[in-house]
Amino acid sequence: MRYIVALTGGIGSGKSTVANAFAKLGATIVDADIIARRVVEPGSDALQAIRERFGDAMLLPDGTLDRAQLRQRIFCSPPDKAWLNALLHPLIQQETQQEMARASGAYIMWVVPLLIENHLQNRANRVLVVDVDTETQVARTMERDGISRSQINNILAAQVSREQRLASADDIINNNGHPGDITDSVAKLHQRYLGLAASATRQDQSL
Ligand SMILES: Nc1ncnc2c1ncn2[C@@H]1O[C@H](COP(=O)(O)OP(=O)(O)OP(=O)(O)O)[C@@H](O)[C@H]1O
Ligand SMILES: [Mg+2]
Repeated sequence: MRYIVALTGGIGSGKSTVANAFAKLGATIVDADIIARRVVEPGSDALQAIRERFGDAMLLPDGTLDRAQLRQRIFCSPPDKAWLNALLHPLIQQETQQEMARASGAYIMWVVPLLIENHLQNRANRVLVVDVDTETQVARTMERDGISRSQINNILAAQVSREQRLASADDIINNNGHPGDITDSVAKLHQRYLGLAASATRQDQSL
């Protein structure tokens, strides 16, 4: 079995920034957001099913899914949310497993924003949390996405608290400082994960 490190953190905490730093060192990244987009790309069965349920109004002019509108819809309608989850979760899980099976590298860095919210911790060997204080998180997200504080507060309310997330962490990267500040901790963790992956492989072989 492949050694899987789940990388999580709240919105705008720096998951993508940290994942890029691991990728530079040669880690293999599997990104849950990319997979979630891929399963609903134009031509997919899932997009067709969404279109049949919600109509063409759920598509953008270029034929891709209007994710913001869909988010709004399921926020207001629990049955629609349940329907969508039942459609997408198995597809996302299948795609994730296929991508992990194809991936090379000693370990897989699985970037999963909603790891704790969706109770996926047990699918990983180790949980790495990117931690940032809330004010910094809000400021960076506002600047990146051009959204208001109240919009961010709504998103934060739908995510677990910083404390709950940290309670699930095996490792923590503090991203309060400058982008370059994470380089050392990323390098150390990469070495640790290579070691853990190697000993997990040895254990598998001795069984
Ligand atoms: N240490 C840092 N100093 C300054 N800006 C940073 C730092 N780390 C990340 N950023 C910036 O903050 C924003 C959020 O970072 P990033 O996109 O990596 O977060 P994320 O956790 O992947 O967000 P999301 O949950 O939306 O996927 C980006 O604009 C990024 O460039
Ligand atoms: Mg990201």
